[in-house]
Amino acid sequence: MRCGVDFGTSNSAVALSTGEVLKVEASGRLSRSVLFFPEDTGEVLAGGPAIERYLEDNAGRFIQSMKTWLPSSTFTRTQIRNRTLLLEDLIAVFLKSLRTSAMETLGKDLDEVVMGRPARFSTDPVADAFAQERLKKAAELAGFTQVSFLIEPIAAALAYEATLKRDELVLVADFGAGTSDLTLMWLGPTRRVKTERRGDVVASSGVYVGGDRFDAAIMKHKLLPYFGQGTTYEVGFKRMPIPTYVLSRLLSWNEMSLIREKSTRELIDQMMKTSTNKDAIAALHDLVMYNLGYRLYRAIEQAKVELSTKKKATVVFSDERVHIEEQVTRAEFDTFCKPLIDELEVCTDELLARAPKDLRIDSVFLTGGSSQIPAVRALFARKFGEDRLRTADAFTSVVEGLGRAADLAFKL
Ligand SMILES: Nc1ncnc2c1ncn2[C@@H]1O[C@H](COP(=O)(O)OP(=O)(O)OP(=O)(O)O)[C@@H](O)[C@H]1O
Ligand SMILES: [Mg+2]
Repeated sequence: MRCGVDFGTSNSAVALSTGEVLKVEASGRLSRSVLFFPEDTGEVLAGGPAIERYLEDNAGRFIQSMKTWLPSSTFTRTQIRNRTLLLEDLIAVFLKSLRTSAMETLGKDLDEVVMGRPARFSTDPVADAFAQERLKKAAELAGFTQVSFLIEPIAAALAYEATLKRDELVLVADFGAGTSDLTLMWLGPTRRVKTERRGDVVASSGVYVGGDRFDAAIMKHKLLPYFGQGTTYEVGFKRMPIPTYVLSRLLSWNEMSLIREKSTRELIDQMMKTSTNKDAIAALHDLVMYNLGYRLYRAIEQAKVELSTKKKATVVFSDERVHIEEQVTRAEFDTFCKPLIDELEVCTDELLARAPKDLRIDSVFLTGGSSQIPAVRALFARKFGEDRLRTADAFTSVVEGLGRAADLAFKL
């Protein structure tokens, strides 16, 4: 059977050509795009069960945000339990588990797939093609015999189109965990019967602004003092601030693990002796060396999600010698996320500049988890008017559209 698969930076899903989104986990229709290889067993877990086990075990290799590595030629392979795995092998393990769960729900085989991909994996066309090729390889290794691609905002557009009674020019904006994608497209009842839709796309664009960077902004502006920002230590006869390369690594959960090495341990030992705040250096040590980054970022994400509906939220985290209780107000969050909102605005303006001047946009369809950030919505309300904004299930529009595209992609 045919299906659509949305392999997201943080969430993935499977849908049929009817638009029905299949159950893939005990918890529902979304699966977290992660893997866990426990240390001393031959197992590998995917999605929710991987997270549960990782939080219990801690030891082992936990892998997330695989999608963001796709365009990077520097990430090709990694060693896990003395085996060398290519990035496409890792993604294949995840996709296979997703496919298997969907097939169990359905009771039928899924062999033809329309995979989503961002409007741009990379601005470099070589890297972009490289990313898609690796994703295709992964889908084939996962057992799909036919693999076709559709950009994610077009997929979201097709989901929205299913609800339209008349033709409209729609700006579709999908704000995920890793990227934001925009597409200006003609949609509606007279358009959806056509097999070739490329002519309906007026312009599309994308930018690396997503939920992960909003999380990083909370870390950067509110939490770094817990890990030594603003403290000094002795080097020779001078007092020096904690090196910025160490603090900047803390801004991404993935990069944090890159400094878990001997040289950092030595630096931390040295800082510990003379630091003006030894508790903060102890917290830095435990965060990096005991691999607490994932859990901390979950706590940050939770506060960010709360800020979508409340005026203030508190990041609460306590593990080993890391103890955080830090309130973030919506106003603060809006202020320090302003550069990200500005990037979104520049990307939107560039797209509009490429469209013919006389076109009137009828509606703006906002989707993806990060579309729930009030400042993101406010940007589009300011530019287009609140009355033109439309929403649906933020997490399933893309996959629903990918599913709907499958019959056309594999016609005959
Ligand atoms: N209520 C909320 N408010 C703000 N952000 C949210 C909310 N709910 C989820 N998010 C964020 O949305 C993101 C996940 O959204 P989504 O599932 O659309 O992304 P994805 O498809 O995995 O990523 P991408 O499309 O970039 O590959 C995460 O960064 C998450 O923190
Ligand atoms: Mg997405």
